[in-house]
Amino acid sequence: MSWGIIIKTKPIIKPISISYNKLSPNDTDSIILIENQNSHNPWSKNQIIEGILNPTNLCYSISINNQIVGFLMAMSAIDTADILNISINKDYQRKGYGKKLLHYLIKKLKDRTIGQLILEVRKSNQVAITFYLKHGFEEISLRKNYYMINSKHPNQKEDGIIMRLKFSTK
Ligand SMILES: CC(C)(COP(=O)(O)OP(=O)(O)OC[C@H]1O[C@@H](n2cnc3c(N)ncnc32)[C@H](O)[C@@H]1OP(=O)(O)O)[C@@H](O)C(=O)NCCC(=O)NCCS
Repeated sequence: MSWGIIIKTKPIIKPISISYNKLSPNDTDSIILIENQNSHNPWSKNQIIEGILNPTNLCYSISINNQIVGFLMAMSAIDTADILNISINKDYQRKGYGKKLLHYLIKKLKDRTIGQLILEVRKSNQVAITFYLKHGFEEISLRKNYYMINSKHPNQKEDGIIMRLKFSTK
């Protein structure tokens, strides 16, 4: 008769570390990858670099274990900021990372005593509209035929919705 020994091991769970960083031009390739996943008219490399280097912009990434999974760019003025772009890697969507990044931006804006965020979103982008409504944004106006639907059909346009979030800076 042989006796087997059963050794019970605990499953190895790798800790997840989430970090936020200012975007740098070195992050451009990671951003392009996410842009291409999510946009029909993705920003070009030059647009991305210009956005990052513009001193009035606030540009942040969110990373998991040092790998960028999302980014956000906003343009700040005296008492308001405009979200120019927010995008999360498709594999990481609907897991709360967009929310974390938005909250991180709001914290940074509060530090600058900016208490208002504005953005424009395509009427067809219901996921983004749901995301913004969930975070307290309200629709404030409509821009008729504001967006090109596809660069191959420049005459086909769709409406843009302007949304606003006001928050206390304290
Ligand atoms: C919009 C976007 C940034 C949201 O980021 P995300 O990390 O996926 O969103 P979160 O997990 O933080 O979701 C927060 C809430 O938004 C809403 N939401 C997000 N994705 C949704 C989806 N696919 N369907 C419906 N509601 C959704 C939900 O209310 C969600 O809360 P819940 O999960 O508790 O129900 C992401 O979908 C994205 O990158 N989209 C493509 C790029 C884009 O359209 N950017 C906006 C340009 S204006």
